[in-house]
Amino acid sequence: MGRFDGRVALITGAASGIGRATAIRMAADGATIVGFDRDTDGLTSVAAEITKAGCAMTTVAGDVSIRADCIAAVDVAVSIHGRLDILANVAGVTWAEHVADITETGWRQMMDVNVSGTLWCAQAALPHLIEHHGNIINIASNAGLMGQAYTVAYSTAKGAVVNMTRALAMEYAKQPVRINAVAPGGVDSPMSRDFTMPDNLDHTLMQPYIGFRPMADPTELANVIAFVASDEASRMHGAIVSVDGGLTAG
Ligand SMILES: NC(=O)c1ccc[n+]([C@@H]2O[C@H](COP(=O)([O-])OP(=O)(O)OC[C@H]3O[C@@H](n4cnc5c(N)ncnc54)[C@H](O)[C@@H]3O)[C@@H](O)[C@H]2O)c1
Repeated sequence: MGRFDGRVALITGAASGIGRATAIRMAADGATIVGFDRDTDGLTSVAAEITKAGCAMTTVAGDVSIRADCIAAVDVAVSIHGRLDILANVAGVTWAEHVADITETGWRQMMDVNVSGTLWCAQAALPHLIEHHGNIINIASNAGLMGQAYTVAYSTAKGAVVNMTRALAMEYAKQPVRINAVAPGGVDSPMSRDFTMPDNLDHTLMQPYIGFRPMADPTELANVIAFVASDEASRMHGAIVSVDGGLTAG
């Protein structure tokens, strides 16, 4: 018996990093996975790994920043698998820049993917999650809990994800649905491996968010996300769970 037997989990960003690890973790625990990502090759790869292990995964190619794509992904989950129990909003983008270099296009993209994508998926999924007493896990960041130099747009977006989680939890306080966020620190994923810093930095400004421990493996996040999504976390609602090796403790 797996803790997610008979349940359907929609995971955005499932093609890579934390989303991929979460899909594999939840599938191993019995969930039927619906992976939603704009990276079709990555989706095909994780679906092959999951089905090879004898578990089930459906893929949906799309862009979380487009509301119609989020509605379509929820529709796929419900029409093919008959229900939706878990939404993990993992898809996200980040980059670093000086404030003077933030462009209108870049600012909008940061908000559209990280903030709007989280809302559009939640909005589409909530009626189905309420029907099955399910839950949402939004992926925030330590950057949403502290001010970070050189990632002002990302820090703003993840701060919005933190407070969106709390606001959703309040609006649905009397409904049978749980809404929580997990806030990672540095994770060894394609996102962090591709991350580059701009020139002319004052490195002392970055010290508060570098921390003292090595980066996490994506499976360490997946384990916590799966726990928060499970019945073992039945009392958790409106929580922001830091999984950052102590980064935001000091
Ligand atoms: N890696 C870190 O150090 C770190 C730290 C804190 C928070 N996070 C957050 O964790 C989440 C996952 O990050 P990761 O490290 O696994 O990154 P990743 O780059 O490995 O994976 C992100 C996934 O999101 C997908 N994606 C991006 N934009 C999309 C869009 N518009 N529509 C659909 N899919 C889209 C990508 O294709 C990719 O598969 C993100 O929200 C990120 O901000 C990461």
